[in-house]
Amino acid sequence: MQSYDFLPVRHSETVLAELMIPSYANFGGKIHGGLILSLMDKVAYVCATKHASAYCVTASIDTVDFRQPVEVGELVTLMASVNYVGASSMVVGIRVVSENVKLHTIKHTNTSYFTMVAIDDDHKPLKVPGLILENEEQVRRFAEGKRRKELKIQHKEVVKEVLHSTGSDKSFLELERCKISF
Ligand SMILES: CC(C)(COP(=O)(O)OP(=O)(O)OC[C@H]1O[C@@H](n2cnc3c(N)ncnc32)[C@H](O)[C@@H]1OP(=O)(O)O)[C@@H](O)C(=O)NCCC(=O)NCCS
Repeated sequence: MQSYDFLPVRHSETVLAELMIPSYANFGGKIHGGLILSLMDKVAYVCATKHASAYCVTASIDTVDFRQPVEVGELVTLMASVNYVGASSMVVGIRVVSENVKLHTIKHTNTSYFTMVAIDDDHKPLKVPGLILENEEQVRRFAEGKRRKELKIQHKEVVKEVLHSTGSDKSFLELERCKISF
């Protein structure tokens, strides 16, 4: 297979649609959040694998906020594109919308960013093609992907520092809704 140094975003853009059937519902009658996450993982896999032309694994998932519930009978559509690439990692941005097919109303349920890593047969990270950015939106997404990666590294450092600095001091829990019973 031919290998490319750079590929346009459109080369790997992926859309996945699935009808929400009753067996996907939770006890409250709405669609399971886990089902939506699973669909997001699938579309991220396809999108990243198309870009890399190699097997890809999910390294990390950014916060997923469910903005609105998804109902049985709706058509969920997930639109994925590679927003940013590093050496072997790709950030796949996914927008999820849900359509009431009787009323033709569409709602945005969530957006998230999956970091996918291309790996070789020995499970070693594999270099992926760079991205050809063909419009301002793609440049903005790439820049945001780079910034998000930097912020994530900084955030990890801050969390480590703050958690370690707390030590055995429990005074900051005094106003919380818990009772320490030992
Ligand atoms: C993802 C994985 C292959 C990375 O392997 P590794 O030995 O840590 O490789 P490296 O440290 O060289 O990182 C490789 C790339 O992954 C990125 N990466 C690794 N862990 C990451 C994380 N938690 N979040 C975001 N990016 C990550 C690195 O930034 C690096 O990116 P770059 O090549 O673009 O610079 C490895 O951690 C793995 O196999 N994880 C399990 C994946 C899996 O099973 N997913 C399904 C879960 S059910």
